[in-house]
Amino acid sequence: MAGTYVGGPRDVRPEQDGGRGVALSSVSDARPFVVGIIGGGQLARMMYGPAIRLGLHVKLLAEAPGVSAAQVAHDVEYGDYTDPATVLAFAEGCDAITFDHEHVPTTLLQQLEERGIAVRPGSAALVHAQDKVVMRERLSALGMPCPAFQVVASAEELAAFGERIGWPVIAKTSRGGYDGKGVWKIDGPQQAGEPFEALASGEAGGGTTAGSGTSGEVQILAEEFVDFTRELSALVVRSPSGQGVTYPVSETYQDRGICAETLTPAPGLTDERAVATQQMALRIAEELGVVGVLAVELMEARDGRILVNELAMRPHNTGHWSIDGAHTSQFENHLRAIADLPLGDPASRASWTVMVNVLGGSREDLADGLLHVLSRDPQLKVELYGKAVKARRKVGHVTAYGPDLEDVRARAQHAAQYLMGDLD
Ligand SMILES: Nc1ncnc2c1ncn2[C@@H]1O[C@H](COP(=O)(O)OP(=O)(O)O)[C@@H](O)[C@H]1O
Ligand SMILES: [Mg+2]
Repeated sequence: MAGTYVGGPRDVRPEQDGGRGVALSSVSDARPFVVGIIGGGQLARMMYGPAIRLGLHVKLLAEAPGVSAAQVAHDVEYGDYTDPATVLAFAEGCDAITFDHEHVPTTLLQQLEERGIAVRPGSAALVHAQDKVVMRERLSALGMPCPAFQVVASAEELAAFGERIGWPVIAKTSRGGYDGKGVWKIDGPQQAGEPFEALASGEAGGGTTAGSGTSGEVQILAEEFVDFTRELSALVVRSPSGQGVTYPVSETYQDRGICAETLTPAPGLTDERAVATQQMALRIAEELGVVGVLAVELMEARDGRILVNELAMRPHNTGHWSIDGAHTSQFENHLRAIADLPLGDPASRASWTVMVNVLGGSREDLADGLLHVLSRDPQLKVELYGKAVKARRKVGHVTAYGPDLEDVRARAQHAAQYLMGDLD
């Protein structure tokens, strides 16, 4: 289903370009920039607000009717993002393609690029967010601080890695993991078989689970267990013209592999360390040629080192605070980058911004909780994703900001807990 819009100097009519352009019919003089988003989750949904404001036209490729972004889309196709025919047909008439998730097969992205379609971020960059082994090897070659790591082919090799580095160690699938699925803490040699068993049974990563299909072999990556005091996130945005902006570094808290809370800026992080971290993230974006948001997940070790955990190249949960807490949100800056527009000011509006995720809990209808949380705190911001409540599923988030961290944090925590049904 193509959009209906038209005219103007940038208009490309099907009959003029041999059928490759957007099917257009006249409703206005200007043809907007058409962004094709692959994936219909909440990240795609949250791009709609800024896209409307910037006058961009969004075309969505969603998994199924009713998914989070499809609920707000007017130009939507449904299909399998791993199927070349579906994705190539969808990309026809888009000025640029971007993503809600990182699971489109790398080879398929390359096919799009070979046809001259602007894929943002491009396949050569995105592979570093799709494959943790590729990421580790590249970042180490660039001299970026990473945990000690090794690709291991068997339980014996993982056990040998643990003996060499010291227990415990972390094992991860190279591809297909998300929200802690595909990550194991291995305490000793007796557990070294676990990741390989999970991989063989299809319970983890690559090839067989939801969110897989990025193509390429799934490997097990062994890493030094980092004794971290907290996790951090450095979020930057880079445009095709090479402009870059960097958000304040956030402290992030993961509960059982799922982002639960972010504090921005990271409390107690000195300006010097914050700036060095931001520069590192900008350098990674530059070296890898990222277009759009790059989120660098980091671990601050007890010994003071700040190590890279992994990369994401799309708006990221740790940047949701920016919707209400920054002058320009990560979603708006992502779209500005996709359309190669000047990027907006990423600075915070308030001294402190706290975002707390609303995960599926005992309250089945989240709207029932709105009356209480919105009336209790008129400055609170709530974002609901339109998703059915299921245990620990990300169904929304709340944001509070202000001059006092403890107050801001208490307000955000209260609202999220109330919406989840944890409080009466
Ligand atoms: N080397 C490590 N040492 C200690 N903890 C780790 C290490 N790698 C990952 N973790 C923990 O596991 C979480 C999930 O790992 P990550 O690689 O980010 O997987 P996912 O793709 O599921 O987000 C991290 O946020 C961190 O809390
Ligand atoms: Mg992660």
